[in-house]
Amino acid sequence: MIIRPRRLRKGKTLREMVRETTLSPRDFIYPMFVKPGKGIRDPISSMPGQYQFSVDTLVQEAKDAWELGIPAVILFGLPDSKDPVGSRSWAPDGIVQQAVAALKESNPDMLVITDVCMCEYTDHGHCGVIKDGDVDNDATLELLSKQAVSHARAGADLVAPSDMMDGRVAAIRKALDGEGFKDTGILSYAVKYASGFYGPFREAADSAPRFGDRSSYQMDPANAREALREVELDLDEGADMVMVKPAMAYLDVVRLVKEVSLVPVAAYNVSGEYAMVKAAEARGWIDGTRIMMEILMAIKRAGADIILTYFAKEAARLLMDGR
Ligand code: PBG
Repeated sequence: MIIRPRRLRKGKTLREMVRETTLSPRDFIYPMFVKPGKGIRDPISSMPGQYQFSVDTLVQEAKDAWELGIPAVILFGLPDSKDPVGSRSWAPDGIVQQAVAALKESNPDMLVITDVCMCEYTDHGHCGVIKDGDVDNDATLELLSKQAVSHARAGADLVAPSDMMDGRVAAIRKALDGEGFKDTGILSYAVKYASGFYGPFREAADSAPRFGDRSSYQMDPANAREALREVELDLDEGADMVMVKPAMAYLDVVRLVKEVSLVPVAAYNVSGEYAMVKAAEARGWIDGTRIMMEILMAIKRAGADIILTYFAKEAARLLMDGR
């Protein structure tokens, strides 16, 4: 007798019945870029189909995403001005603060998550304040805390620190609680690698470091056990969810993190992962739609409960059509 796994692959109905992993628009968080102005929808050249929005067009775009079943957006801000400490990041009338308020007013049910980091707001492009040529960890904690509190005050449901400073989850939790925002959650970019896959994002958010790189704070791509250490620390400090970033080249890490954490695990399908698919698709080298779904399914299969992805709307549309 031979065992015949092919029996279970006979016909679409049976295949669907025995499918181990399913994707849903509910799994997605849609990353969006917001900048000052009105009626703006500027295409991001290295991320076809993605835009920098002004607050008014952002609200419309988020509404479209909500109607496709996507429960959440994560916001990145392009401020009107930059300085060495990124002071526009915690301004009550800052661009992200305005966007959060407008989104929550137009659709209170949609979750609004904010990226908490300094790199979009500092004139040197690093994720914190510079002292002696390097990012000063503890001085940066104060600024991140101010930024997180201002996002919470504007109405953010969750804040997502992406700076990779040590101790930032504890500092932000303490600051939020101290200001009366005890129900504002923290989605920690717990495991964030120093990755070339963020290239297109730095065009989209105008956040490339003007000198050096981020290796003194983001993780070495060679390390997996260290990811568990970062997760352990962030959970101890009060993170409500943890994230692994990037996703595709780090699915082993997603799996490891899933195995040890009792909180929801998110994975960030980052800008470079999106751009590669779009570029190869534009050349006719791959079936972009098929590969998009395969990638998202793989991230879910690896253990992600939540996927941050620029494909959110495109994939949600397909899933709604039952594909
Ligand atoms: C800010 C931040 C980055 C990304 C998310 N938050 C860029 C970076 O660390 O340089 C990257 C997201 C993407 O590539 O899609 N620190």
